[in-house]
Amino acid sequence: MYSNFIENIKEVVKCYVSEKRFSHTLGVEKEAYSLGLIFMPEKAEKLQLTGVLHDITKDFKTEKQLELCKEYGINVDLDNLVPKLLHSKTGCEFAYRIFGEKVVDKEVYNGILYHTTGRENMTLFEALIYLADYIEETRTFEDCIKLRKYFYDSIKEAYSYEEKIEALRKTMVLSFDLTIKNLIDEGKRIDKDTINARNYFVSCKNVFKN
Ligand SMILES: [Fe+2]
Repeated sequence: MYSNFIENIKEVVKCYVSEKRFSHTLGVEKEAYSLGLIFMPEKAEKLQLTGVLHDITKDFKTEKQLELCKEYGINVDLDNLVPKLLHSKTGCEFAYRIFGEKVVDKEVYNGILYHTTGRENMTLFEALIYLADYIEETRTFEDCIKLRKYFYDSIKEAYSYEEKIEALRKTMVLSFDLTIKNLIDEGKRIDKDTINARNYFVSCKNVFKN
């Protein structure tokens, strides 16, 4: 039943993304499901679904993204525009309008919305989508390989649930550090949600508790 449902969703997503993006989408689908089995097995399929949907508008041109933002009433700071970040803002609403609330509920919606920047007080669900996007198997960028290895090496040595969450917390810190370092090297703007997410994972010892 569920696999038919997912296959149908994939067929729709395929209409909006390039072949390369679709391979990445399948990678995130698989990774999100695997991470779900480790941290929240009861939501593994929902994470899989969010993985399928997360980049649905990523291949739209900036003009189209901005048109969608206008249509959806999303505020965009045109002076500090970061085109790469628009797809998470448009993607959740785009998916919601196609599939409705039964498929894209608040958790799936926010999973898509925060998968690029992260945010302070991110939920475990959001963190798993964020991480799946970073470390899925088709990613070949050096930092992605480094983060994938760091996470799976740490998780191998984590036995209790608390130890697994701690391994995830440290992995999230490393991921934001790598992202922020790259943005600095490239002279690019750092979104405030990314800075807040990094600080949250650095200083909060009770992550995912609120
Ligand atoms: Fe992605």
